[in-house]
Amino acid sequence: MSKETLTVTDNRTGKTYEIPIVENQAIRAIDLREIRTSDEDFGLLAYDPAFTNTASCRSAITYIDGDKGILRYRGYPIEQLAERSNFLEVAYLIVKGDLPAPSNSKAFVHNITHHTIIHENITKFIDGFHYDAHPMGILVSTVGALSTFYPEAKKIFDAESRKVQTHRLVAKMPTLAAFAYRHSIGMPYAYPDNDLSYTGNFLNMMFKKTELKYKPNPVLEKALDVLFILHADHEQNCSTNAMRSVGSSHVDPFSAVAAATAALYGPLHGGANEAAIRMLESIGDVKNVPAEIKRVKAGEVRLQGFGHRIYKNYDPRAKIIKRIADEVFEVTGKDPLIDIAVELERIALADDYFISHKLYPNVDFYSGIIYKAMGFPLDMFPVLFAIGRTPGWIAQWQEMLLDKEQRIARPRQLYVGAEERDYVPVDERADHGDPADEQPDAR
Ligand code: CMC
Repeated sequence: MSKETLTVTDNRTGKTYEIPIVENQAIRAIDLREIRTSDEDFGLLAYDPAFTNTASCRSAITYIDGDKGILRYRGYPIEQLAERSNFLEVAYLIVKGDLPAPSNSKAFVHNITHHTIIHENITKFIDGFHYDAHPMGILVSTVGALSTFYPEAKKIFDAESRKVQTHRLVAKMPTLAAFAYRHSIGMPYAYPDNDLSYTGNFLNMMFKKTELKYKPNPVLEKALDVLFILHADHEQNCSTNAMRSVGSSHVDPFSAVAAATAALYGPLHGGANEAAIRMLESIGDVKNVPAEIKRVKAGEVRLQGFGHRIYKNYDPRAKIIKRIADEVFEVTGKDPLIDIAVELERIALADDYFISHKLYPNVDFYSGIIYKAMGFPLDMFPVLFAIGRTPGWIAQWQEMLLDKEQRIARPRQLYVGAEERDYVPVDERADHGDPADEQPDAR
């Protein structure tokens, strides 16, 4: 009879321990604490920098099989959702666990639509930013500032309050994002238009000029909506981990979303599609692709938009995006960068380095080209990611709050610093001789 346990022997003591296996795939790290050399010994820890092999939660939201290239939200394959659903329906699915019945769907769309306006004082904060402020910086600050407008958001264990804050967050992220953009180009803010869809209204707030009524192009509106769907959740990625970790202190959800947005700002996460475009622009021509591949293989640069911690196969989102690109180019005209991207992918996927490292295009490889063709400046790319990811952050935060096993996130460490030593008066200390040590700043 097989048993759902793991037997380990501590060779320091010769003792054997039987540790239960949970969900058929994990042991509880706390069970390792029993493994100790003496009563004074703290017990073994699991050491896992960057959480490469540590599950921090049980989750019922997103399923990924990185080897097979499978992504599902609440059990529904991403391909079906991209083809047949829309972003608000997917947001409902992710946050609430199932697709909405018609009446719930109508109410949800109504609630989100009627929360898109932001308090006018928020525009005053945005006005205060430098003209070339990065819109992600503006988004991090203003979404965090929303907590001061809705102090009742602190009632995180009140289901009704969580519901209203969810509506506010999903509704107001596009408004903050679009206003940040309008500020950067010196255009007056375009206020929400409730006649338009979620994504159509976002395009309105971004691109409306002097026309009385903005009419989004339906192909571009649909393409952007699908891109939002593709970004809606991705299990325990860096920003979601930030959302859960900061949320575990029981702060309000606006502050936690500000933290998640900050995590997304980094070039290894939400900034990668921007980096992918800059890379394609610097390559400049299809004929320069082999030289770039050579540089990547020599370890001089990384191929932006390639590789993933979880996918060791083609990212299913990248496949869908590649298809959308053709539809978008029918409207906008083809961006020459697509030829460079396709050639990069072709050469990379046939190359030993990329094959052996299991490096495939990820969601960011083609998304930037579409955003660019639609008229979004590079700085806005991670902002678009943040809009799409908001329902995922909220769902994961709520799941964490209601999970009885979760407590404030607080990892352990392996201390490798100095032993106890006595304080040395300043005039008795030697110069460390390190030229990188503290000197007056050059400016
Ligand atoms: N180009 C060239 N080599 C790469 C790349 C790349 N894009 N990505 C990974 N490698 C190599 C890396 O050099 C290492 O090689 P070796 O074992 O010989 O030293 C090996 O593959 C493993 O890399 P890693 O950095 O340990 O992998 P990771 O899981 O920590 O990093 C990643 C994942 C996404 C940060 C990384 O693949 C990367 O930097 N990619 C480029 C940036 C990018 O496209 N990011 C968007 C990720 S998808 C959006 C999201 O979900 O946030």
